[in-house]
Amino acid sequence: MRADYEQWARQVRRLAGERRAVILAHNYQVPWIQDVADFVGDSLALSRQAAETEADVIVFCGVHFMAETAKILAPGKTVLIPDLEAGCSLAASITGDDVRAWKAEYPGAVVVAYVNTTAEVKAESDICCTSSNAVDVVRSIPEDREILFLPDMFLGAHVERQTGRKMHVWMGECHVHAGISPQEMRAKAEENPHAELLIHPECGCSTQAVWLLDEGVLPAERTKVLSTGGMVAEAARSDAERFLVATETGILHQLRRANPGKVFEPVNEYAVCRYMKTITPEKLVRSLEDMVFEVTVPEDVRVRAAGAVHRMIELGPAPVAVG
Ligand code: 13P
Ligand code: SF4
Repeated sequence: MRADYEQWARQVRRLAGERRAVILAHNYQVPWIQDVADFVGDSLALSRQAAETEADVIVFCGVHFMAETAKILAPGKTVLIPDLEAGCSLAASITGDDVRAWKAEYPGAVVVAYVNTTAEVKAESDICCTSSNAVDVVRSIPEDREILFLPDMFLGAHVERQTGRKMHVWMGECHVHAGISPQEMRAKAEENPHAELLIHPECGCSTQAVWLLDEGVLPAERTKVLSTGGMVAEAARSDAERFLVATETGILHQLRRANPGKVFEPVNEYAVCRYMKTITPEKLVRSLEDMVFEVTVPEDVRVRAAGAVHRMIELGPAPVAVG
């Protein structure tokens, strides 16, 4: 198996060199792809890498909206995704027409779009956010402005709690994170009283976690609501030896690789994003060999979407991608 990996990795690195390509991989990718990539990170860290790269080609091992974001930020580069079927149920929960209709109901409101959206939805929005900066993005908006926050209702609820601000929140959800239930999280936390809890804000259990914090069932210093990149940084920083992880299970590889002396356990071992997993080692090779599949964004949409993404990026630093 190790020999298979090394042979495959050599082929990928050779092809990437010939194509002058950078390989970006999201934290939910399968282990081989995380290990061969130039950078592994969360949505915001990978967007930053795409914006700054000097490579000619970006091969995005993640889902389609992430590759689109790379194209929005790096229009002069060829952006490839190894499988066009790598969608996102959350991004699919809202269309450009939906946003236009919503804005017509609330003229003057500021539209905040999570990056898990299509380029067309970003183009209708004022500013983007990711799970690592959503709170800061909302805090940057003047208090007297109404906010339309889309499309994730759990992230929206998390931001409302953190900022104390009431927003209009789109009722979208990610089927993978919504499936991580409050009951599972509570049971796991009670079985592991010394473990630190790392919770992605898209999770259905994040609301319950806050309630358990208020009730004193979970200690505040050991319960963290974080982006996937934030989880990697927190695991390295924390003195805890055991962590319960409430997000897609691909992150466990990154956490274990970076922290070999610590134990990481999923809250729900079936929290697997089939879209992320459509990207396989074979498809990555084909992508580099045949230069497929190119991700494009119509220029008028790209320019408007870039405004929303740049406004977010200008707000400040994000957790660093690991190379
Ligand atoms: P992160 O930006 O935290 O990596 O989240 C992306 C995502 O798709 C979560 O499901
Ligand atoms: Fe989309 Fe959910 Fe998959 Fe993340 S885990 S890419 S939000 S479907």
